[in-house]
Amino acid sequence: GAPAKVDISKIEPGAMLVAEWRGKPVYVTRRTPETLGLLESLNGDLKDPLNTNKAQQPAYADNLHRSRDPELIVVLGVCTHLGCAPKYFPEVKPEAFDANWKGGWYCPCHGSKFDLSGRVFNGSPAADNLVIPPYSYESDNVVVVG
Ligand code: FES
Repeated sequence: GAPAKVDISKIEPGAMLVAEWRGKPVYVTRRTPETLGLLESLNGDLKDPLNTNKAQQPAYADNLHRSRDPELIVVLGVCTHLGCAPKYFPEVKPEAFDANWKGGWYCPCHGSKFDLSGRVFNGSPAADNLVIPPYSYESDNVVVVG
């Protein structure tokens, strides 16, 4: 399929834009300094905090923030359990969820939880972190997925 160009200039901190690439949703999310600052503290609650499954991200996203630019994450909106679309919860955790989850993506199908780097939480039916697709920056404002 053709690459997907995404204008990221209007994504406010904390906001997510949904693009499409090869028929799949791509979640492009601008994280806040606060949420980026939380990532490391979550490692003990995650199944694969250090990206040992190299199939889940390109080498340039094999880092704590799982992205080229720490602020912006580009992640496939496809749950690694059975493929539903996880819902985005920026920053604030809903009361019904466990205390360690600080927001990210929640899959409504069977309850998998992912942090704001797309890393899967312990206790989730999904085993793997969300997939980071190949992408690059065409300019400061345009990301090309694919
Ligand atoms: Fe997401 Fe099962 S498809 S938890």
